[in-house]
Amino acid sequence: MTQEQWQVVDDYIAGLFGADDPALAAALHDSTAAGLPQIAVTATLGRLLHLLARTVGARRILEIGTLGGYSAIWLARALPPDGRLITLEFDPVHAEMAQTNIARAGLADRVEVRVGRAVDSLAALDAEATEPFDLIFIDADKPSYPAYLHWSLRHARPGALIVADNVVRQGRVADAADDDANVRGVRQFNAALAAEPRLTATILQTVDGKGYDGVAIAVVNSK
Ligand code: SAH
Ligand code: DHB
Ligand code: MG
Repeated sequence: MTQEQWQVVDDYIAGLFGADDPALAAALHDSTAAGLPQIAVTATLGRLLHLLARTVGARRILEIGTLGGYSAIWLARALPPDGRLITLEFDPVHAEMAQTNIARAGLADRVEVRVGRAVDSLAALDAEATEPFDLIFIDADKPSYPAYLHWSLRHARPGALIVADNVVRQGRVADAADDDANVRGVRQFNAALAAEPRLTATILQTVDGKGYDGVAIAVVNSK
């Protein structure tokens, strides 16, 4: 199997469900034109995030790692009109692009983009004694994934989902000798997820237009 085949089937799946609508297509187009890295989730994974948010009846969503707002749009569309998505982004250029893309998608009233290092924004959320989240999507710097998980456990309600992108990294995560900082970060995250008694989790390998990777999905157990 090759990347070319994965791309063909990913396009087939995305096409089946109508591919990208205008707001999503414009978000990707303008992000690429502005030189943002092309590392947004695929349409197929964006749709999965949307489905998961709908499944738990999410009213409050946290995203760590906004980029141009592509996954934020998929997630925010799952919210009721009075729902809220807070998304955290370090790079002000990315955050600005996201704000524009989210507004064009008609979701500005539901989405708040917070600019800064996620650890700092999370500490600020702590101080606000914010309501618990129904879904947390982790997709920023990989070495910080264990810290993001630790924070998420304190701020996700029972029944909430914690979802994390890029936890397989072309299979490198399973090679114990691979000590790349990103690989180590997600390996530690995966181990912590598996060892955590408050969570029930799994990891799905994915092959798609973005290559070979995987997504972790965890539900917060009720006591
Ligand atoms: N979720 C997005 C993709 C996110 S890419 C989507 O699928 O559409 C990862 C993003 O995390 C990048 O925009 C990067 O600037 C941001 N990022 C990296 N390190 C960060 C940090 N320490 N705090 C907040 N954001 C960070
Ligand atoms: C990278 C980050 C991502 O969030 C992603 O989905 C793909 C690649 C990266 O940093 O290379
Ligand atoms: Mg990612």
